[in-house]
Amino acid sequence: MRRILVTGGAGFIGSNFVRMVLSEHADCLVVNVDDLTYAGNLENLEGFMDNANHKFVKGDICDAALMEKVIGDNEIDSIVNFAAESHVDRSLVDPGIFIETNVSGTLTLLKIALEKDLDKFVQISTDEVYGSLGADGMFTEQTPISPNSPYSASKAAADHLVKAFGHSWGLKYNITRCSNNYGEYQFPEKMIPLMINNALNDKELPIYGDGLYVRDWLYVYDHCTAVWKVLTEAPAGETYNIGGNNEKTNLDVVGSILDRLGKSKDLIRHVTDRPGHDRRYAIDSSRIMTELGWAPSVTFEVGLDKTIDWYLANKKWLDNIVSGQYQAYYDQMYGNR
Ligand code: NAD
Ligand code: TYD
Repeated sequence: MRRILVTGGAGFIGSNFVRMVLSEHADCLVVNVDDLTYAGNLENLEGFMDNANHKFVKGDICDAALMEKVIGDNEIDSIVNFAAESHVDRSLVDPGIFIETNVSGTLTLLKIALEKDLDKFVQISTDEVYGSLGADGMFTEQTPISPNSPYSASKAAADHLVKAFGHSWGLKYNITRCSNNYGEYQFPEKMIPLMINNALNDKELPIYGDGLYVRDWLYVYDHCTAVWKVLTEAPAGETYNIGGNNEKTNLDVVGSILDRLGKSKDLIRHVTDRPGHDRRYAIDSSRIMTELGWAPSVTFEVGLDKTIDWYLANKKWLDNIVSGQYQAYYDQMYGNR
């Protein structure tokens, strides 16, 4: 039986990963450590909290004593590190916590993984560590690291630490760098669920700047299958890009959401741009596709339909978030824009 520590497994991608593993891979114990920050939500794990192969522990990845105990007591053989502060806009308001969780937290886990000689440490990174592209080209695994936001700088620092542990002491690691995820259970501060929620409530849709920024959208389930392949099949010491090959401008994405919900484009409002906003991301995923045989299961159109259907069917999940602390954040971010 595999014995995996998943960190950040009550967040968006982590909870999708936990649900996928428990549903599709019977011979696997998942110990899920999450500090339940504003982005962590046990409702994301509904139906899986009592699963015999799932153990949830509320805790901070920076807490070395706790992490040693959890990893030791559960005889963990691999770590998949999703836990992070993940939102660029928040990092532009308060970068300190990004360094604590994303850099110091990763360092804490790396030290334990090395000391216990674990079979694998998978670091979930992002294409944002590569910086921004012009009109042409794609990020490959050879693209130099050149982060532009405090968020991407913290993720890049963590990537460098992971590699350094491999290079210096032989830690068995992989790094995955994926593009923008979308799908079920995404917290509505990120663009797609924020726009769905606003459109459903006939609120304005705040588009930063001219809206011609390009992201390469990846359906979250497809990201999870890619991470599983890397965890279970990839040779140690390798890095893999993961993308959906779905480049879209923000205006195109928002237009599709409005069309699908039968709402008017008059809801779109151009607001003050994000400082240092990266213009374009595009991921070349050919390495993971050819070497590990991974492929996305859906097109963007199908994935977006599934996502909108899920938000329509789960209004209570959305309302529970929007009625809480998130409302104060929303007013702070968009009140004067
Ligand atoms: P998220 O913000 O939805 O979830 C992060 C989770 O980590 C939350 O459950 C939170 O409670 C937990 N957490 C935060 N600090 C913690 C700490 N100190 N100790 C323990 N748990 C802590 O983020 P997400 O979108 O699911 O992203 C997951 C990972 O994927 C992150 O590492 C992120 O950098 C990376 N990533 C995300 C995207 C994307 O589009 N969402 C794209 C590329 C990479
Ligand atoms: P986001 O979901 O925050 O992801 P990231 O910044 O990590 O790419 O944003 C995706 C794109 O949408 C990005 O170009 C910023 C833009 N955006 C808006 O135009 N309005 C918004 O309210 C948000 C949250 C994002």
